Amino acid sequence: MDKIVTLDEFIIRRQKDSELASGALTGLLRDIGIASKIVSREVNKAGLLNILGVAGSGDNATGDTVQKLDLYANEKLIECLTNSGECAGIASEENEDFVQLNAVTDKKANYLVVFDPLDGSSNIDVNVSVGTIFGIYRRKSDASEAVNLQDFLQKGTDLVAAGYVLYGTSTLLVYTTGRGVNGFTLDPSIGEFCLSHRDIQIPATGRYYSVNQGYYLKFDVEMRRYIDYCSDLNLRLRYIGSMVSDIHRILFQGGIFLYPNTRKHPQGKLRLLYECNPLSYIVEQAGGKAITAQLERIMEIQPRSLHQRATIAIGSPDMVDEMKEFVERYNPALNGE
Ligand code: AHG
Ligand code: MN
Ligand code: MN
Repeated sequence: MDKIVTLDEFIIRRQKDSELASGALTGLLRDIGIASKIVSREVNKAGLLNILGVAGSGDNATGDTVQKLDLYANEKLIECLTNSGECAGIASEENEDFVQLNAVTDKKANYLVVFDPLDGSSNIDVNVSVGTIFGIYRRKSDASEAVNLQDFLQKGTDLVAAGYVLYGTSTLLVYTTGRGVNGFTLDPSIGEFCLSHRDIQIPATGRYYSVNQGYYLKFDVEMRRYIDYCSDLNLRLRYIGSMVSDIHRILFQGGIFLYPNTRKHPQGKLRLLYECNPLSYIVEQAGGKAITAQLERIMEIQPRSLHQRATIAIGSPDMVDEMKEFVERYNPALNGE
């Protein structure tokens, strides 16, 4: 039997080859790992403890204050990221503005973490998989100063690490620091993430497409043509409503995930900083591609605001290329119509 390699052990072994050789990554990933274990525990007992509900809606059956799980996850991530003293500030889907973190030590914090604390949170009430998505940047401003908005408005290409945690049939943490993608499964009996998926490679093509087909009539013509093509090929449609879960399947089994512009969301719905960039980094590192419905590489978009949205087509490289061909062929604007 292979020796068990824990997440901490793996990060330390790789530390010397990493861009974050100072050990900062070890601290940051450990903080995120701890937060995700706490979130995993709460997600798993959510139904039991009746802690579900809408934030601010008052008390639960036992008289405790009800806190929605995405806000709980947000709080835990912020608390845990304060631990190692490596994180100067965070930006989260759940906070309107970025938050400066005051380190518990006098260490100068050089990194920033952006995250979607709970992705697919509408699935919680019905026991369907959800996730956490995160990205790590080196701050641009001097470590002696307060963090500022510009620190957070970095391109995906500036990411030094990114990952996600999937709270599914088991809890799995997948991350990259730009040298491949590795996955760790939480063994609840010992409370450790153990290396379970080494050097993940996305299949060049696959049998799955993932899109909210209910919006079909709201998509542009070129996107409808591409979706018709997927359907003609008898590809299997899978759509969980939790991007992490859909991307996770595609990473292992191949396929394409689409969230194009709709009438309701002309810029797309998904957030560039918290969802699109970290997942694009992982998928690209695994050999896949991620572009907008307007064919721009996701990771090269210059963010202009924290909560900026983007359209996205992400997954197996051959399928993203094929989608691109459909846009080039059928988009009237690209054809001078
Ligand atoms: P969140 O729960 O963080 O708000 O994210 C939900 C996102 C994403 O995970 C999912 O793919 C998408 O919203 C689903 O949107 P539609 O219901 O519009 O398809
Ligand atoms: Mn989300
Ligand atoms: Mn969310």
